[in-house]
Amino acid sequence: MAESSSDLRRRRWWRSTTTRVLAGVASVAATATVLVTAPGADAAASTLGAAAAQSGRYFGTAIAGSRLSNSAYTTIAAREFNMVTAENEMKPDATEPNQNQFNFSAGDQIYNWAVSRGMKVRGHTLAWHAQQPGWMQNMGGSNLRNAMINHIQKVMAHYQGKLAHWDVVNEAFNEDGSRRQSNLQGTGNDWIEVAFRTARAADPSTKLCYNDYNIDNWNYGKTQGVYRMVQDFKSRGVPIDCVGLQAHFTGGSSVPSSFQQTISSFAALGVDVALTEVDVTNANTGQYSALTQACMNVARCVGITVWGVRDSDSWRSNESPLLFDGNGNKKAAYNSVLNALNAGGPTTTPTTPTTTPTGPTTTPTTPTTTTTPGGGNCTATLSAGQSWGDRYNLNVSVSGSSSWTVTMNVPSPARISATWNVNASWPSSQVLVAKPNGSGNNWGVTIMANGNWNWPSVSCSAS
Ligand code: XIL
Repeated sequence: MAESSSDLRRRRWWRSTTTRVLAGVASVAATATVLVTAPGADAAASTLGAAAAQSGRYFGTAIAGSRLSNSAYTTIAAREFNMVTAENEMKPDATEPNQNQFNFSAGDQIYNWAVSRGMKVRGHTLAWHAQQPGWMQNMGGSNLRNAMINHIQKVMAHYQGKLAHWDVVNEAFNEDGSRRQSNLQGTGNDWIEVAFRTARAADPSTKLCYNDYNIDNWNYGKTQGVYRMVQDFKSRGVPIDCVGLQAHFTGGSSVPSSFQQTISSFAALGVDVALTEVDVTNANTGQYSALTQACMNVARCVGITVWGVRDSDSWRSNESPLLFDGNGNKKAAYNSVLNALNAGGPTTTPTTPTTTPTGPTTTPTTPTTTTTPGGGNCTATLSAGQSWGDRYNLNVSVSGSSSWTVTMNVPSPARISATWNVNASWPSSQVLVAKPNGSGNNWGVTIMANGNWNWPSVSCSAS
């Protein structure tokens, strides 16, 4: 929803007032004789990360581990950005060079560099047709399916709780919106869904993203194909939290006029959207400001990442597509992006993964019906309610007898933290005994997952 102009004024006022006060305190502490000049009413942030943060967004870059010893590179990267994607170091060929032998040294180097500078990290990527290790390229069928699952589990376990997002699946669609042929696709059309379910079970704290290129134009087959998949996943409770638009814009494919519509249409499905690998031929300023503005205009567009620091660092270096030239100077496009970030837009509200608990072990339990000697019977049926990063709600509906007792066993270390509409006692934090409280047969429970998102077992007895 668009922010009202009075909200915007209030936020800008708060921002400029805060800046002024802080500037005043710092200066007074440094020397009492210097007169403090307050910044203008609309104090603009002077780095990309700080400018994006004003509206709750981030501004990131791809980092190449091999360049971390270059101080010109690291100086700019540490100053300007507050999100990092490993350009190659967390891809399958880097993390699992031999089957079931993992190597996280290059990925960890980037991770540690970033977090020690207060930056967040986006994981990229777990399942992809490209940059597979040799052993995986030659695999197919159930061997490959199992290898993919094992890869996701082991890599996500290593980074458990550490990464803001993971690109679970990368580039799985053809230009016409059909699925791309690949060895992964050959294991069955459900491979993407299995990858996401596996990922949620492996690390419920990170946002799970689908990432692709050429999904910028709303009226394009590939965009529609990905959109339909996300829509289907959301409708069936397959866990997905975000869509990444790589946004590699070339001379032949520039920012389309429908770009913002694409972003807002994905967002309307209930996922975050991010521009994940931005680069533009010759760093066209109009296109850079247009893509930044489109993101700023959509509350759930949570951030922008450019695919490298200086032109000389780019995988498309002959097209000079980034915001800094080879000497580390800011280019015109840098200013157009910074200005668009400073101009503001609807504030994003950080959310935690919201998809219902899923995965093979989190499938809703079959409703249990227990017939008691007294003759009555009852059935308790669970359904997913709202969920957050640390906990989830279950709705319980009891049918049959109106005189029932439902017993729920929550798998450790999950704990019952609240109930509603029911007369409940908790003999332990894992066992709930619930009886009617006079307000009907529909009630609910909140469960703190503590990392275990498996649903409780439930039984019902009537008297
Ligand atoms: C690119 C890297 O930038 C190159 O260094 C590497 O040789 C190939 O991959 N889409 C993606 C990224 O998701 O991982 C790719 O990165 C660029 C296209």
